[in-house]
Amino acid sequence: MIPYKHEPFTDFSLDENKDALNKGFETIKKDFGSDYPLIINGERIHTDKKLESYNPAKKSEIIGNMSQAGEKEALQAMDAAKDAFKDWRKTTFEFRSDVLFKAAAIVRKRKFEFTAMLVKEAGKPWKEADADTAEAIDFLEYYARQNLELKDGRKVESRPGEYNRFDYIPLGVGLVISPWNFAFAIMAGTTAAALVTGNTVLLKPSSKASVIAYKFIEVLEEAGMPKGVVNFIPGSSREIGDLLVEHKDTAFVSFTGSRDVGVSIYEKAAIVQDGQVNLKRVIAEMGGKDTIVVDSSADLDLAADSIVKSAFAFSGQKCSACSRVIALDDIHDELLEKVVSRTKELTIGDPEEDIYMGPVIDNASVEKIEKYIEIGKEEGKLEVGGTVDNETGHFVNPTVFSGLKHDDRLMQEEIFGPVVGFAKASNFTEAIEFANDTDYGLTGAVITKNREHIEEARRDFMVGNLYFNRDCTGAIVGYHPFGGFKMSGTDSKAGGPDYLQLHMQGRTSSEML
Ligand code: SER
Repeated sequence: MIPYKHEPFTDFSLDENKDALNKGFETIKKDFGSDYPLIINGERIHTDKKLESYNPAKKSEIIGNMSQAGEKEALQAMDAAKDAFKDWRKTTFEFRSDVLFKAAAIVRKRKFEFTAMLVKEAGKPWKEADADTAEAIDFLEYYARQNLELKDGRKVESRPGEYNRFDYIPLGVGLVISPWNFAFAIMAGTTAAALVTGNTVLLKPSSKASVIAYKFIEVLEEAGMPKGVVNFIPGSSREIGDLLVEHKDTAFVSFTGSRDVGVSIYEKAAIVQDGQVNLKRVIAEMGGKDTIVVDSSADLDLAADSIVKSAFAFSGQKCSACSRVIALDDIHDELLEKVVSRTKELTIGDPEEDIYMGPVIDNASVEKIEKYIEIGKEEGKLEVGGTVDNETGHFVNPTVFSGLKHDDRLMQEEIFGPVVGFAKASNFTEAIEFANDTDYGLTGAVITKNREHIEEARRDFMVGNLYFNRDCTGAIVGYHPFGGFKMSGTDSKAGGPDYLQLHMQGRTSSEML
């Protein structure tokens, strides 16, 4: 088998790639405004209740009208998943991995179509959309290989006259609740991990980017996934999310999204329901309030580039995005000036054109960011940005605040938008203390040439993904297993060597010979 290597990114300076993406736009536009059904046990079910999925850069452009599952359909999907599990659990590891390998090949052939969909449905700039599609392919390729490594279980010893084995078996029905910000990669990755390990799945994608999820289920079907293995049930958290989290037959929940929802799922899943025979597992990837620390030895151009990229690529809507900078006193002003001047040069607009920054996802997001801009004005000094344009699309200009204390609200609460705050520290140890002083622990970066500082940060900076001399976003599957500490989640490292086992249970068998 070809060893795993991550999917290369597309070079959009080449005309052939620009043309390919423009063709992708043409292809997907033909279906804009279509009605999309639920998929339960392979059946297409159109419901009366539909939700529009629209382009956040151009609110009038409807990507699709998505059927919404209610209680009846959610329970129907649960029955289908339970039924499909009876056979799916018996399939070989090879068969299940082959479905993923084939799905990766199909997506690779239609790469520009999926990338175009991410631009339109999630408002991603070309580069970001391309990276999202590449990561989806990576998850499929990587988990397919990881699954094969688990097929003979793990080696255990046997005494004379005894044959001992330790095997991994699936858990049952998993509920996957996926986010809009990596509408393809995280949705496909969390679904693929659950199904390749022999579980069946109820997929509840984000309502803000559900058409791409529908397209992915079609890919899985084309790749040979039997019916009922993944059931596609977009719907509201209140109506079906809680119902399924609390359902006695849900074996595990794989959630990516906000801290509030994640914590509530964690609590609800812990309550054992009448008739429930398994303790539910929860895999949760929640928020971040991610810091870049810059010391006096740092290359300040590298630091400024890393901050701007981490804070503003995809409009700061990554849980890994940098929203706090802690800079040592002596380089603070020069660094701030470099970040502000780079920020002023960023291009913002409809990402169908190849621009740096597109919109934020919706109106609620604009309102939340505006609220934090006002808080920032009270707590610190607005250096650049601070304005929004919510007319045709949901645009927020990249915003930098200085003069903050590390424990100000702007430096503590997750904003999920293009806003970054600067605070000073008087020495490196204090900078790491300030960096750690948030509820979250997802990503962080240190820009330094000082070896002792690198080792101090490696020991003391409490984040799940720590980067040196680079940005703090853009973890690559199989290279940078991704997941956070503290209120960022269960540290379930997506794209890492331990991830699939979270969806399985170990069985010891001992046979007397
Ligand atoms: N994995 C993404 C990143 O590293 C965030 O979800 O940026």
